[in-house]
Amino acid sequence: MPAQLEQDVVTLTLGTSTVHIALKGATVFSYSYDGQERLLTSSKSNVHTSDPAAVRGGVPICWPIFGPAPSDSPPFSKLKQHGFARTSVWEYVGAQDQGEGIKATFKLEPTEQIQALFTLPFVLTYSVHLLPYSLSLSLSVANPSSAIAPLPFQALLHSYFRLPDSVHPRDVLVTPLENLAFADKAGPKDGLTKEAERRKVVDVDGPGGEVDRVYFRAPDRLELATGAAGTVRVHKKGLPDVVLWNPGPEKGAKIGDMEDRGWERYVCLEPGLVEPFQFLDPGKSWEGGIEISFA
Ligand code: BG6
Repeated sequence: MPAQLEQDVVTLTLGTSTVHIALKGATVFSYSYDGQERLLTSSKSNVHTSDPAAVRGGVPICWPIFGPAPSDSPPFSKLKQHGFARTSVWEYVGAQDQGEGIKATFKLEPTEQIQALFTLPFVLTYSVHLLPYSLSLSLSVANPSSAIAPLPFQALLHSYFRLPDSVHPRDVLVTPLENLAFADKAGPKDGLTKEAERRKVVDVDGPGGEVDRVYFRAPDRLELATGAAGTVRVHKKGLPDVVLWNPGPEKGAKIGDMEDRGWERYVCLEPGLVEPFQFLDPGKSWEGGIEISFA
């Protein structure tokens, strides 16, 4: 069966590629390509809906905010870091054979639980398209409101790319980020002040091994090079910014739901719409996504 829903998890299969998507958060938590797992999901993480915590790993969807709630006032003040999309249970709309690949669609609309935190109307649609040589993920946001109020949001696909066993995060090289403005969330500044990236090739190493940077207006084609182990290619569309994150040993050990030394096994490259917020007028929709492939 190319598409199957079993125990809160949708599985798509195409040739030797497989992708697993948890209904919780519509989180892609495993992508196997060419006989290798390409995403890191913590073995301590529970992908089932019985556990309310977000999946630690894979590709959680951050919506309607990225990071902590930006203000003490509505509509975001009651939201936890990265918003509720990653912890909500999404509806599985179904899967379609698309000739070249297979595409599963998921939907999230306000529930009572969500409305207690966020009162604006919205419809999120997420498609997971498994193709012969890539995986394409696309988030669409619609504002179904009949009022004049726009729907403000940030959106980000928080991808945890698994590193081959022989590769450490500090050996990973990311391009092309040169000359981009970035905010260093792990730096001595406030995380808001922007600096310019001077390096042609950016490694994933900082003080204490930690890197947590938001790069603004990044090129749409990004690469994570892991030496002889190959390159991860991320082609983003409609998502202007990108976050590069690895917590390093000290902060990594404090992530309770991360497996032992898990921080050594991934680099997060997270295309997103971080700044400025999108303000979506009633009746309008927005779309952003990524295509993941390997070289
Ligand atoms: C990254 C942020 O996107 O997500 C980091 O830039 C954050 O600051 C990380 O630590 C993980 O967040 P969370 O909420 O999943 O622990």
